[in-house]
Amino acid sequence: MAGDIADDIERILLTQEVIRERVEQLGREIAARYADMSGGLTLVPILSGSIVFLADLIRAMQLKLKIAVVQLSSYRDRTRPGAPQLLQGLSDDVRGRHVLIVDDILDTGGTLRRARELISVRKPASLATAVLLRKPSKAPADLPVDFVGFDIDDLFVVGYGLDYADYYRNYPHIGVLREDLMR
Ligand code: IMP
Ligand code: MG
Repeated sequence: MAGDIADDIERILLTQEVIRERVEQLGREIAARYADMSGGLTLVPILSGSIVFLADLIRAMQLKLKIAVVQLSSYRDRTRPGAPQLLQGLSDDVRGRHVLIVDDILDTGGTLRRARELISVRKPASLATAVLLRKPSKAPADLPVDFVGFDIDDLFVVGYGLDYADYYRNYPHIGVLREDLMR
């Protein structure tokens, strides 16, 4: 199990430099969008995949904001999606506040759909979504996504928060995992 995680990556799709530049841009774009809104902004990051993205994104947003975490997981330790399960509820009241859901990747959309349902019943002032990655070939057309970092091909990627069986989240780039390592 020990060893260099870089050895498990087939190829790098997005380098950390490319990611950093785009995330900073996205942070400024989001901050500009919410700058004049009253009521206050609450970011709702979906754990655990969004933690690295969130950490960089919020530091590119010079805006007063709160963070309320929610944990949803559809993948467990597999690479195929199942029904998203709620693992941990909202830790902060979002009623009357502008809410921005932050997730690592929009694949089939099940996770974001569930998160939107859970949050809308709490009557936020507005509800929007930001994802670092989107797989356009699979993302459903009826699911609104307001901010997207990168559109990518339908590949299984890891790094920068994205995992396979909960590993590789600390890989600094986003890369395609070697096929022989996925069961
Ligand atoms: P969805 O519910 O099908 O949109 O899947 C979203 C969730 O599945 C994300 O929050 C990720 O945790 C996980 N996921 C989807 N595609 C990938 C991938 O290529 N690599 C790693 N995790 C993924
Ligand atoms: Mg995951």
